[in-house]
Amino acid sequence: DAAPLVDVRGRPLHDIRFSVTDRCNFRCVYCMPKEIFGRDYAFMPREELLTFEEITRLAAIGIGHGVEKIRLTGGEPLLRKGLPELVAMLSELRTPSGAAPDIALTTNGSALAHLAPALKDAGLRRVTVSLDSLDDATFQSMNDVRFPVAKVLHGLDVAHEVGLGPIKVNMVVKKGLNDQDIVAMARHFKGTPFILRFIEFMDVGTTNGWQLREVVPSAEVIARIHAELPLEEVEPNYRGETSRRWRYRDGEGEIGVISSVTQSFCHSCSRARISVDGRLYTCLFADTGHDLRALLRGGASDDDLSAAMAAIWRARTDRYSELRGLNTPRHSRGAKRIEMSYIGG
Ligand code: GTP
Ligand code: 5AD
Ligand code: SF4
Ligand code: SF4
Repeated sequence: DAAPLVDVRGRPLHDIRFSVTDRCNFRCVYCMPKEIFGRDYAFMPREELLTFEEITRLAAIGIGHGVEKIRLTGGEPLLRKGLPELVAMLSELRTPSGAAPDIALTTNGSALAHLAPALKDAGLRRVTVSLDSLDDATFQSMNDVRFPVAKVLHGLDVAHEVGLGPIKVNMVVKKGLNDQDIVAMARHFKGTPFILRFIEFMDVGTTNGWQLREVVPSAEVIARIHAELPLEEVEPNYRGETSRRWRYRDGEGEIGVISSVTQSFCHSCSRARISVDGRLYTCLFADTGHDLRALLRGGASDDDLSAAMAAIWRARTDRYSELRGLNTPRHSRGAKRIEMSYIGG
């Protein structure tokens, strides 16, 4: 099948994100609130998880359809035992141009100081680290497990020292919780090798109690920083980039804003997500996935898997964030959305 794979809206498949575990050692209030993800929460049993072989096989099939980027997420991906082995397996794959795929990881940074060297040796290219504040009281009110800022900063430094990069830092902004730290974060990372990005608090899943009035629009984030540290907008790195880039006028680096709520980017969305248990979701806000694990474990051939993936992508119409903006009645009901820890950020 030589025809390029595009969905109903003409969007190619460029990027697969695998959630490798639904567990996390943090309980971020916007992602895994403690009241829901408590001691007795039933996480996925081990045998339900895709194995490294299964993940690698799906990645190879995706590459056959044009995928160039593979991102490992969670939950907290570094809690998955032996993760560097998976990275090593994925880095053996080759895109049609003969290059290894771009392998990236999204992590909370808690185990990065420990694992960064092994990940780099295994072939990991880049990491994105979440950090919501530089103030311990604020950060801990968001991670809800008393995790200290200093350990995340140390993880970032080690990741940089071993040569992972470019390293990005994601800050989810929730009004009344950490928006007072926007400028302090910008100042801290200005002129460093780390690219800070501000993410609008999103209505992923159904447990985080999302309300529109808790979103700080990215335009406001930029205005607040610009007032103290002058900025100018920069062209995207590639079509479909989630983040809008801004650089400091004094040449001291750049920041980004990811504005799913106020400036949706569905028109160029080329991301597929594969859940811990091998369901393919064509949108972060989808309520149903396509069970690829059943095919994998039912003896499907590579051709069968390839055809299944292509059929799912071709039928794709998702544009949740765009519709959220339109605020249609059907949209605002959508009560079945899956959790980000399961589907992957
Ligand atoms: P690169 O651009 O390759 O560096 O990827 P990245 O993971 O660093 O950033 P990316 O833009 O892929 O994702 C950053 C964050 O943006 C994610 O953790 C999500 O919170 C959000 N995000 C990513 N993809 C989507 C998407 O398709 N839809 C929505 N609504 N949000 C997304
Ligand atoms: N809204 C915005 N970003 C979120 N993330 C997790 N949940 C949400 C949400 N509800 C972010 C994490 C991490 C990335 C995987 O997604 O902070 O940076
Ligand atoms: Fe864990 Fe990341 Fe979710 Fe926070 S946002 S609870 S670190 S998976
Ligand atoms: Fe892609 Fe869905 Fe996000 Fe739109 S809302 S950018 S379709 S994942």
